[in-house]
Amino acid sequence: MSKIFLTRRIPKPGLMKLNEYTDDYAIFPPDKPITEKELIEDISSVEGLICLLTDPITRNVIDSGRKLRIIANYAVGYDNIDIDYATNKGIIVTNTPGVLTDATAELTWALLFACTRRIVEADMFSREGRFDGWSPTLLLGKGLKGKILGIIGAGRIGTAFVLKGIGFGVKVLYSDPYINEVLEKKTGAKRVKMEELLRKSDFISLHISLKESTHHLIGAREISLLKPSACLINTSRGPIVDEKALIRALKDGKIGGAGLDVYEDEPNIPEELIELTNVVLLPHIGSATHEARNKMAVMAVENLIAGLEGKKPPNQVNIK
Ligand code: GLV
Ligand code: GLV
Repeated sequence: MSKIFLTRRIPKPGLMKLNEYTDDYAIFPPDKPITEKELIEDISSVEGLICLLTDPITRNVIDSGRKLRIIANYAVGYDNIDIDYATNKGIIVTNTPGVLTDATAELTWALLFACTRRIVEADMFSREGRFDGWSPTLLLGKGLKGKILGIIGAGRIGTAFVLKGIGFGVKVLYSDPYINEVLEKKTGAKRVKMEELLRKSDFISLHISLKESTHHLIGAREISLLKPSACLINTSRGPIVDEKALIRALKDGKIGGAGLDVYEDEPNIPEELIELTNVVLLPHIGSATHEARNKMAVMAVENLIAGLEGKKPPNQVNIK
């Protein structure tokens, strides 16, 4: 049995880095997400694990990895890992921050524009052969200039998202436990309570991590505060939004639309969402650029190697 286990093949630059270090590693062979049961069976003698955001690194998995010293998540979010339990057992956990910030911020704009300018609907319209000439009122959308963009979470990705939008002429509100001086200076962004943000914003985008305190942070009550024309964008984690409440609001026309890259029970996308035309649905591709995924692979491997060598990995998220 190998000392190092990867739950999925990662992009080549990461594997090249790993090969320079050792050939004593195994990759879970099927090119699909590993299950909890398979993890439990496979990691009994593993010291270093590279895993994905879809891998449930539960108590049982951690207990089965009796020699486990480091869990290197190939993602910035690590809500898939029972972090408290890993910490109690002295197992290092790392993530891949920073290298996917631009990719995710760019995708957030893509989703926002897809919603405001009805890109997906318009593409389908064209493909269906329904374009029979320019029209003054064909597929009208919403402009950005002068509108209010509200971001919940002004960390790396939230900040990058807003900074990339300088030039579109939106006014920015943000809610975050901390003051973000860069954002305020460069965009005039104003920090407000989440409730005020929800009431005032035309476009709302979520950039926080999933934990107990953020589960269903956007529930029925919060959704009821939104403007009827508001558009909600989620490129963070699905369970931050109460999906059922969102579906109800979209169906009843209580909000204008939504752009989703993440879902409560991935990879399941509720049929009710699929049937709606005022949503754009992406398959969790926020960080899916060649550039970001290559860098994430190298970063995960560097974290893993540092952990195995008894050094402090650059992106350690627990055991300070
Ligand atoms: C992607 O969702 C990530 O957390 O890296
Ligand atoms: C979250 O981890 C972020 O990078 O914003």
